[in-house]
Amino acid sequence: MIDMTQFGFGIDVGGSGIKGGIVDLSTGELAEERIKILTPQPATPDAVGATVAKIVAQADWEGPVGIALPSVIKKQHALTAANIDPTWVNTDVQELFQRHLTAREIFVLNDADAAGIAEANFGAQEANTGSAILLTFGTGIGSAFLLNGELFPNTELGHLMIDGKEAEHRASSAVKDRKGLSYPEWAARVDRVLHEFEALFQPDAFIVGGGISRKHEKWVPLLTVSTPVVPAELRNQAGIVGAAMAVEKRLLP
Ligand code: BGC
Repeated sequence: MIDMTQFGFGIDVGGSGIKGGIVDLSTGELAEERIKILTPQPATPDAVGATVAKIVAQADWEGPVGIALPSVIKKQHALTAANIDPTWVNTDVQELFQRHLTAREIFVLNDADAAGIAEANFGAQEANTGSAILLTFGTGIGSAFLLNGELFPNTELGHLMIDGKEAEHRASSAVKDRKGLSYPEWAARVDRVLHEFEALFQPDAFIVGGGISRKHEKWVPLLTVSTPVVPAELRNQAGIVGAAMAVEKRLLP
């Protein structure tokens, strides 16, 4: 029998895959191999709800579930939908997931915020000390603002206009793949974006996450901002870990 106080369950809804797993809340590590199912297309609320239910059932998990979504989440309502189906806008996500999962506690938060919470607790020292901006590079660019490990939620730096183009349309890792950019070519785009963020927010550190942070040595050394840039230590699992923490520890109101 799983000790519910030590373990939680997190789900990270991404543009290409929906990933979930049981998280050891004392270490921030996954207790078992994560489960991944391709994101249904179109990624409507009900299609995603059904996939989330499948992952939870596959893991045989009956406890609370935390869910990270690529959307601004306020009062358990999704307010934006940049990289998922537009019908998410104004969806009551509490009602949606309660309907798809059997009765249990559910908490939904923004995916980059989930990654930020996880990193502040189990990852890079920079996430827990002073001011830090954590950025996740994937289908879009997500951001989490941290001050001494505390989160300022729902920042959306990926949509900041830079030279007439949204930051995430310029420098997400999906853009790298789509355009077949080399690491130096893509790093130059990331660098332009980071210079803008640096000028506006002057954080003590940037923490870079998402799948592409696994290859950080290929691009982080090419960046020219004066703010230190460190790779996220939790890499691509941070969304799952942060989502599990948010529901279990009730980290957010
Ligand atoms: C969304 C954010 C999300 C980010 C990363 C952006 O397009 O607007 O809410 O955090 O993508 O998934």
